[in-house]
Amino acid sequence: MQRIALALQPQLKRIEVVLSPALLFSQTIGKELKTLSSRFALFCDETVAEKIGNRWLSHLEHHGLTVSLFTFPSGEQEKSRERKAELEDRLFSHHFGKECGMIALGGGVTTDLIGFLASTFCRGVPLVHVPTTLLGMVDAAIGGKTGVNTPHGKNLIGTLYPADKVLIDSSVLHSLPLEEWTHGCAEIIKYALIRSPSLFKLLQEWRTDPFYLEKVIHTSILIKAEVVETDYDETSGLRRILNFGHTIAHALEKLHNYTLAHGEAVAIGMLVESHMSMKMGLLPKERFDEIESLIRSFPFKLQICSSFSAEEFHSALLYDKKTIGGSPRFVLLEQIGSSCPFAGEYCTKVPSSVLEETIGWMLALFSEGV
Ligand SMILES: NC(=O)c1ccc[n+]([C@@H]2O[C@H](COP(=O)([O-])OP(=O)(O)OC[C@H]3O[C@@H](n4cnc5c(N)ncnc54)[C@H](O)[C@@H]3O)[C@@H](O)[C@H]2O)c1
Repeated sequence: MQRIALALQPQLKRIEVVLSPALLFSQTIGKELKTLSSRFALFCDETVAEKIGNRWLSHLEHHGLTVSLFTFPSGEQEKSRERKAELEDRLFSHHFGKECGMIALGGGVTTDLIGFLASTFCRGVPLVHVPTTLLGMVDAAIGGKTGVNTPHGKNLIGTLYPADKVLIDSSVLHSLPLEEWTHGCAEIIKYALIRSPSLFKLLQEWRTDPFYLEKVIHTSILIKAEVVETDYDETSGLRRILNFGHTIAHALEKLHNYTLAHGEAVAIGMLVESHMSMKMGLLPKERFDEIESLIRSFPFKLQICSSFSAEEFHSALLYDKKTIGGSPRFVLLEQIGSSCPFAGEYCTKVPSSVLEETIGWMLALFSEGV
């Protein structure tokens, strides 16, 4: 018998993130893209095409790039194997191949779908993410997770394929509907709570001018990148902190049949898990009060339907991937900007008395939309 140890793993891919207000329609955008390929497929959903994509295509062509635009309907249902295959066939019929670059212009649906497509098309082609939602800028376009949904669940098929470049122009957020803003805000508040007291302070003075937004987006990206870099393959436990607020949020989304907006669910989830941190004696009450007041200063509705019982909620919690031995586990805070390490697990089971009290607190407070 012979054994050969091959070290085929390439060096960790470097992602270049470029942030600048008005970047997309700048004079230098052509140069930015030409370093990757001389021919691109530009993908966006129909809403983004109307708001940005059609104009941007003309701008790119004007700056000497060869680009073909491919659009598809907007919405989460488009993150499917069927849409991916349909777009791949369109690419082949336009003679796209290995040397061509893919640009995903849009929210998390587009970056997830096109990221997955780019990772498998001719076994991997250059990829540029141009996120146009706040959630896309601070979360979906950063970290390299791509994927599509299946009838068996969300994001079940996909790859880890970081973009070569992420281009962020906060001025495109002006056309974003209010509800879409809240999804991104929830994730930014999460970064502040798990990792950055200074981001928390910045968020207490929330504004939407481009320079303020760029600072918030920049800080958020650095936090996500630091956590992902430290635990890229999700083996050390640290990446679990990105799940803060999400154990409760996912159970709420499931019980609402996915009609509760993700940002809303995460906002409630962060309040509930902060409350739990306080009840566990980890987070001081004054810090909990500050967290509650920050979350309430954002335009979240903080309302859940009360047509489920505490028992049903408890069962829904068990679908979480952190569940162990039939008990849910939670990421908890010890301070604003610091999650509890729990011996490198970064999550813990909580006594049933604390869990019951917390679920009761949540149902009493948010079922009435107080
Ligand atoms: N890969 C990851 O790490 C990761 C992380 C978080 C979320 N996600 C995924 O992201 C998806 C959600 O992303 P999303 O909330 O950005 O959704 P989305 O891509 O569906 O965009 C939301 C809506 O906003 C519209 N839109 C986008 N940009 C706009 C703009 N500038 N002006 C006006 N309208 C605009 C879109 O057409 C769409 O209707 C989910 O599928 C989720 O699973 C992935």
